[in-house]
Amino acid sequence: MAEKYSRATLTRNFLKTITRIKKPDEMLSEAKSGGLEKTLGVWDLIILGVGAIIGSGIFAIVGIAAAGSADGTSPGAGPALVISMIIAAIACVFSALCYSEFATMIPVSGGAYIYTYATLGEFAAWMVGWVLMLEYAIGFIAVACAWSNHFVQFLNGFEQYLPAWLANPPVWLVNDPFSAAKIVAENPNAFVPTIFGIPICINLPAIVMVLLSTAILVKGTKDSAKMTAVMVVVKLAVIALFVIAGAFYVKPENWVPFAPHGAAGIFAGAFIIFFAYIGFDAIATAAEECKNPQKDLPIGIIGSLIVTTIVYVLVALILTGLQDTSVTPDLAFLKAPMAYCLKLINLNWAAGLVSIGSLAGLTSVLLVMEMAATRILYAMSRDHFISARFQKLHPKFKTPHVLTWTVGLLSVIGILTLNLDVAAELCNYGTFTSFIVVCIAVLILRKTDPNRPRPFKVPFSPVVPSLGIICCGGLMVYKSMQASSSALLFPVWLGIGAMIYLLYGFVKNRMNENKIHNEKVEQRKLELKM
Ligand code: ALA
Repeated sequence: MAEKYSRATLTRNFLKTITRIKKPDEMLSEAKSGGLEKTLGVWDLIILGVGAIIGSGIFAIVGIAAAGSADGTSPGAGPALVISMIIAAIACVFSALCYSEFATMIPVSGGAYIYTYATLGEFAAWMVGWVLMLEYAIGFIAVACAWSNHFVQFLNGFEQYLPAWLANPPVWLVNDPFSAAKIVAENPNAFVPTIFGIPICINLPAIVMVLLSTAILVKGTKDSAKMTAVMVVVKLAVIALFVIAGAFYVKPENWVPFAPHGAAGIFAGAFIIFFAYIGFDAIATAAEECKNPQKDLPIGIIGSLIVTTIVYVLVALILTGLQDTSVTPDLAFLKAPMAYCLKLINLNWAAGLVSIGSLAGLTSVLLVMEMAATRILYAMSRDHFISARFQKLHPKFKTPHVLTWTVGLLSVIGILTLNLDVAAELCNYGTFTSFIVVCIAVLILRKTDPNRPRPFKVPFSPVVPSLGIICCGGLMVYKSMQASSSALLFPVWLGIGAMIYLLYGFVKNRMNENKIHNEKVEQRKLELKM
């Protein structure tokens, strides 16, 4: 009986510990003494948002959303791509409003991770931090490899001017092992070195980009925001070029039939193009570095989402007006649709410029994704989940340089080992989960802490957060029903995260609590002696 009782007590204590929340006031006072420089204004935030959002989604994936996948497993939306884009944008807006409420209420580094800590407790916070690594760190690796693919396409365009080895680089030097294996299976002449039968691939352009992005981020957030601004201007300029030049060649008959695959095509398109909106939440992770978070953060988050939606809808209209998407077009359209359409209307010079713009677009996505990953880990280190060494700021640049280099070097390992398609899908899973948790967290904090000042309030709560949960949850369920390998790997990732928490994070946190307790006892003893 006694043993039973003590077991029950232990279980109760354990559950109490892992659901213990961290008070928002404690987070705010820690952030005050933290020392990250406050350098970002409203324009920096909008640029950061647009920089994070517009990337491989609109430069590459949009082709599949419009015309369907080459293997026919996913139907295309056709000209109704515009509707798919609006559906995906609406799903994001619900979550963006919830992010804005939290980001203005608790403007500290960490985004969804700290919002969870303030509402659902220690274990849920750890799990959300772990899941956010899928969105940002695994997403960072996927975009770096997409950059490499675009770079190779760009080099291919100079076939007549460059030496053959540079215009068509060796397969093993520009691919991950899985993609290289596919290429070798289709083309037995392609050479990939092996050691004990294992293909050895070094995706050099992707590795160089990751190291470059890491060095820029270590040098400073303001500098990286400036770099991002340049990239954003370049990518918006080439998209404007595509829209304006393409508008003169649109064939309205291509817009008929409007939805060749009906609702199935529209929703499949919405699911795929959702990837193109990932990134606005990264703004919230930089909250601690904002000059005026209460006013600027909601404008930054919602503003960047509005700018992107307008850009995407315009691209969708022109793209589907130039190319008949009711039939499956060339593979080249699916890989780089904008450049392909410009070549179709004999504007080769414009197609070249769009290729350069897509490289700029992907570069800015890289910078923001890596920054978001480091800021979440920074917050987790401050909460004693991971070593305090990661909080060390660079003496001159005041950035968490140890952490940034750690993320950079781990990403290089990821590039050497990961399957890209799966990485991108896992990135989607991470994003859906974090959006859902933030919507839930808003509902909880409204109940548990109703009087906390909320400089920005989600309108029509609980309707808006609930719609956010339904939209994102629906997309997640839709994806899971397709029985892809990412649908299996996601629970495995969650399981590994839970194990690490129990064996490492939980223990580390308790050790820290004991240390604080002992320090307090010593202090008290000293006071009594005096
Ligand atoms: N939204 C980002 C992109 O499209 C992830 O690349």
